[in-house]
Amino acid sequence: MNPDWRQDNGGSRLEGMTRTIEDLIPDYLRSLPVYVPGKPIEEVERELKIHAVKLASNENPLGPSPKAIAAARAVLGDSNRYPDGGTYALRQTLAERRGVSPQEIFVGLGSSEIIDLAARVLLRAGLQGLTSEGTYAPFSVAIRASGAELVLVPQRHFAFDLKAMANAITPKTGVIYLANPNNPTGSAFRREEFDEFLAVIPDDVVVVLDEAYIHYAVSMGLRESVEAYRKRKNLLILRTFSKVYGLAGLRIGYAIGMPELLSAMNKLKTPFNTSGVAQAAALAALDDKEHVTRCIETNARERKRLSEDLAKMGFQPVPSEANFVFIVVGPDAKALSDDLLQMGVIVRPLGWMGFPEAIRISVGTAEENDRCLSVMARVILKRAGKGELAVR
Ligand SMILES: Cc1ncc(COP(=O)(O)O)c(C=O)c1O
Repeated sequence: MNPDWRQDNGGSRLEGMTRTIEDLIPDYLRSLPVYVPGKPIEEVERELKIHAVKLASNENPLGPSPKAIAAARAVLGDSNRYPDGGTYALRQTLAERRGVSPQEIFVGLGSSEIIDLAARVLLRAGLQGLTSEGTYAPFSVAIRASGAELVLVPQRHFAFDLKAMANAITPKTGVIYLANPNNPTGSAFRREEFDEFLAVIPDDVVVVLDEAYIHYAVSMGLRESVEAYRKRKNLLILRTFSKVYGLAGLRIGYAIGMPELLSAMNKLKTPFNTSGVAQAAALAALDDKEHVTRCIETNARERKRLSEDLAKMGFQPVPSEANFVFIVVGPDAKALSDDLLQMGVIVRPLGWMGFPEAIRISVGTAEENDRCLSVMARVILKRAGKGELAVR
């Protein structure tokens, strides 16, 4: 079909030309990759008829806070009603806790929705969205889906190269996406490094700082990023209830940012994005400090053990500040993950995130990690016997 039909005909159909539905989908959307989620545990158990452990999606192995479960149950009966579309109570509480106004809080359908909305609001054809290689793939997808050009900056030692990213800014740059700690490598940057970066970012460029795993970065002694936001309003901070709060299945997260930006996102979001059940659970989860502390401590202990035991097997885990461990296993990474899967341990091969030779293992409970380590040892022995694994 004539690609210029719109110009030729002022937007209406040309005589004798057939437009297909496919023609309506822009090229930049057609070429987007599909997000492949970690394999569901039920599917693996059904297919293999074994009990499986899922260490593939960085979920909280200790589950939600019992207080969050009770709060969710208490409002289930109101599900005939639409939820509070303005998420008043949750925004109010978050605003008090984080020291900002409720107008500076946006509650989203997980932080995933906010990653997407930021690009939809701020980017378009002719502009550039900047992120790093080897980071959370939905950043790139959001940039490309907006019609803007995706600019990827290489990492250094499996971490964001903030200096190189700052140098990659052009007059066309609209948004920069960062994750701290980073998924999938688990590396994190210090606040001083981030402050230096932020200081050179032009005022008309928004920095999206995704802090999905920030609670786990205990060794970093990080200051609240809200302090940076108070000084530089071109910062959009993302938090989620999916990780330390254990509510991934309820799909709720939030952003802190300037009211003008958040109100534009409000116009684009679907009218009732987060459910009443999710809002109630999130509110209760915020109050269960004991549960949060237990989750952080268990993760730190188990992450250390998992990393040390993987190192004993000959791997070199990237020091992790998150709830997962990243290891380079060699060209057989996908095959190794498949072998682990066959033995009931679901991990994430990382070809789709730009690391075809690496896998990511989420930190589970002590028993889940034991199972992972023992299955890993067996798989390595088997593959080494066949000369198939080049452990680094
Ligand atoms: C860096 C990062 N950001 C955002 C998300 C998505 O979180 P949510 O469940 O809040 O959509 C994830 C999920 O794994 C993530 O790793």
